[in-house]
Amino acid sequence: MTTAAIQLAPSILAADFARLGEQVAEAEHAGANRIHVDVMDGHFVPNLSMGAPVVKSLRRVTRLPLEAHLMIANPDFFIDEFVAAGTDAFLVHWEGNSDLSRTVGRIKALGKRVGVAINPATPAAVLEDILQELDQVLVMTVNPGFGHQKFLHATLAKIERVRAMIDRLKPGCSLEADGGIDAETAPLAVAAGADVLVAGTAIFDNGESIAAAMQRLRSAIAPQRRMTSCSSR
Ligand code: DX5
Ligand code: ZN
Repeated sequence: MTTAAIQLAPSILAADFARLGEQVAEAEHAGANRIHVDVMDGHFVPNLSMGAPVVKSLRRVTRLPLEAHLMIANPDFFIDEFVAAGTDAFLVHWEGNSDLSRTVGRIKALGKRVGVAINPATPAAVLEDILQELDQVLVMTVNPGFGHQKFLHATLAKIERVRAMIDRLKPGCSLEADGGIDAETAPLAVAAGADVLVAGTAIFDNGESIAAAMQRLRSAIAPQRRMTSCSSR
């Protein structure tokens, strides 16, 4: 019996940008497993956020993997710049990409981890024919574009379907839940099969220290860590 540890991926979208380096270092010391960078272009989603220069600066202050969640209209135009800045992993959306296989192939050819993200209204089935190529899948548990939104419970059934597909086709692939993750919703996402939780507000804007906020999340999921067999401990 092995117990799969759940990874926490703080999303810096909710961080205090005036103290970004400090806050990411604090998250690293508190046991964050990777740092999630939400990239928005005002076209793919109705919001602007940050680009590769932020990754470049963070690369100097943390040894954690930096993952770029590209919510942008033309991800292919920006991949090289993000790689040069120090990005370790990319999450690209299924929606709006007419040549997803090529985008995924380019990222892999650059030696980086690659994942596909799907929006709340996108069915799990679209992943079936690309899953073998992926290191990660990200299920949006809110509509993309903004932090501080409420978790959409209807996405839980989809997380279960993606988990079943991963176990069948690509066992080692991570399954991330992104949006509205807090101490109440984290255990639901984990029970449904997520093994990486992306959290912005609950870690960086929760009225407590980053370490305390991360401990709160860890405690919330502790009784329900996903089992890779039917045993429990
Ligand atoms: C939404 C982003 C998420 C989100 C997470 O478009 O992809 O990463 O900001 O932030 P919270 O935890 O505030 O929902
Ligand atoms: Zn994200």
